[in-house]
Amino acid sequence: MVAAVRVHKVGGPEVLTYEQIEVPAPGPGQLRIKQHAIGVNFIDVYFRTGLYPALGGLPFVAGNEAAGEVLEVGPGVTEFKRGDRVAYVVGLGCYAEERLVPADRAVKLPANISYEQAAGMMLKGMTVEYLLRRTFKVEKGMNVLMHAAAGGVGLILCQWANHLGANVIGTVGSKDKADLARANGCHHTILYREEDFVARVKEITGGKLCDVVYDSVGKDTFPGSLDCIRPLGMFVSFGSSSGPIEAFNINLLQFKGSLFATRPTLNTYAAKREDLLAIANDLFGVVGSGAVKIPVNQKYPLRDAAKAHRELESRATTGSSILLP
Ligand SMILES: NC(=O)c1ccc[n+]([C@@H]2O[C@H](COP(=O)([O-])OP(=O)(O)OC[C@H]3O[C@@H](n4cnc5c(N)ncnc54)[C@H](OP(=O)(O)O)[C@@H]3O)[C@@H](O)[C@H]2O)c1
Repeated sequence: MVAAVRVHKVGGPEVLTYEQIEVPAPGPGQLRIKQHAIGVNFIDVYFRTGLYPALGGLPFVAGNEAAGEVLEVGPGVTEFKRGDRVAYVVGLGCYAEERLVPADRAVKLPANISYEQAAGMMLKGMTVEYLLRRTFKVEKGMNVLMHAAAGGVGLILCQWANHLGANVIGTVGSKDKADLARANGCHHTILYREEDFVARVKEITGGKLCDVVYDSVGKDTFPGSLDCIRPLGMFVSFGSSSGPIEAFNINLLQFKGSLFATRPTLNTYAAKREDLLAIANDLFGVVGSGAVKIPVNQKYPLRDAAKAHRELESRATTGSSILLP
């Protein structure tokens, strides 16, 4: 038996239940992993509340990202062996001391990346890779707006976009978060709970507006985000921390300047193994070179997963949060 955090009914953080579960031997194509660090992500909240349904039904082990060592490989696995250091983003099952992972979703960790860094960056950092390199190719001199710039995805995106030579504008919920975002490559910060972020973006860009807006806040920043984008620019809605954006008339994109809009997810971009490996290698490259640092700013024992969720949801965290089994 191993310790895990399960959800028996969807709801608030209190439904995260620390208990013992069985982990069977790995089946064909599977790895049994001893987990060393587990990522906490906003998507974990969406599953816990039922906004995203758990495909396997209830109960489920929460969590979508972790890093650890291979204990045992199942039949047919040739790419990994016992003792390999690996990390992965896998739909649910990660808040546990040990787990089974499909081998084709695991990535070997380079020696210069620690388990804690990996748990703080696989989901968030690979998301940043596809957002900046695939969904919209950010180039030198472009104006980029990132909402929640001091968050887990936010701090990684600010550093990476800065590294690409973009002019990075970030919205944040407090002055401390503004300082942190600026220390992580964000050139201009906007306190969007106090300031009109659309007016500030116009001012900062001298009326040119942004080539791309990365919006994970959702309800509270829509449709304002569209007014921050130059004609023919790109609106990337990749999360809904404040609640989902309601259905809107697509003609709005015409009136705002023939905008492009997309609602991407890492699952699609990393669906093929070769893409997963390419995205992960790109991330390992910028982290390995020091261009992007992974700020793991909150660490909790696994049994305190509910506390981690409360703090994430109440906007009390910055950078990445991890659980330690
Ligand atoms: N589509 C994908 O592939 C993908 C992958 C990873 C993450 N995401 C999305 O990216 C977003 C960031 O994820 P994360 O794990 O790094 O979380 P995070 O950004 O560290 O935390 C969420 C942040 O959102 C801001 N926020 C604004 N309104 C909020 C509200 N009403 N309640 C709570 N927070 C609010 C807060 O920052 P301020 O205080 O500064 O406002 C808060 O710190 C999430 O929406 C997540 O779903 C999407």
